[in-house]
Amino acid sequence: MFKIGSIIITKMALNHLEDVHAIEQESFSVPWSKKELQSELTNNRLAVYLVALNENSDVMGYAGMWHVVNEGHITNIAVKREFRGQGVGSRLLESIIEIAGQKEMIGITLEVRISNMKAQSLYTKYGFKPEGFRKRYYSDTNEDAIIMWKHF
Ligand SMILES: CC(C)(COP(=O)(O)OP(=O)(O)OC[C@H]1O[C@@H](n2cnc3c(N)ncnc32)[C@H](O)[C@@H]1OP(=O)(O)O)[C@@H](O)C(=O)NCCC(=O)NCCS
Repeated sequence: MFKIGSIIITKMALNHLEDVHAIEQESFSVPWSKKELQSELTNNRLAVYLVALNENSDVMGYAGMWHVVNEGHITNIAVKREFRGQGVGSRLLESIIEIAGQKEMIGITLEVRISNMKAQSLYTKYGFKPEGFRKRYYSDTNEDAIIMWKHF
């Protein structure tokens, strides 16, 4: 668990699921179902999921990563709309990077929509660089994904 200012970053647990799913739904055009998110916590031994809580224990955001061999693959990172622009996404990403370092991963990768400038800006701030594309990766709009990497 990390406490950064007034934000607490801790492992996601089943009691966070309702709030995380609500954030997932307001954040993505093709959101993961509650069942898929639950399965990440209960069935996926590769998964590392974190939530950001405020002092009232409200879920402000969450982030997930799969630990695949010696690489981290970020699955999703999202902040509840009312808490965006206050450093919550940054704190989550810093914590993911910290955990990847502790687990001696060689780097972290992710996909991001070409149109998602906010997220690209967040990742760039933490040293992620574009290294390729996945053509028509997003099934709802056929938008391409940019593959980004942060190598340690
Ligand atoms: C992307 C997201 C997670 C950022 O979370 P956040 O808590 O708002 O981010 P922070 O306040 O920590 O800001 C971190 C950086 O993100 C970028 N950013 C955040 N808001 C931005 C905005 N309105 N415009 C441009 N860049 C922005 C900036 O680089 C910012 O750094 P800076 O404050 O030094 O300029 C959030 O906007 C979100 O949940 N979006 C919807 C889900 C999503 O797109 N997830 C990423 C999928 S790949």
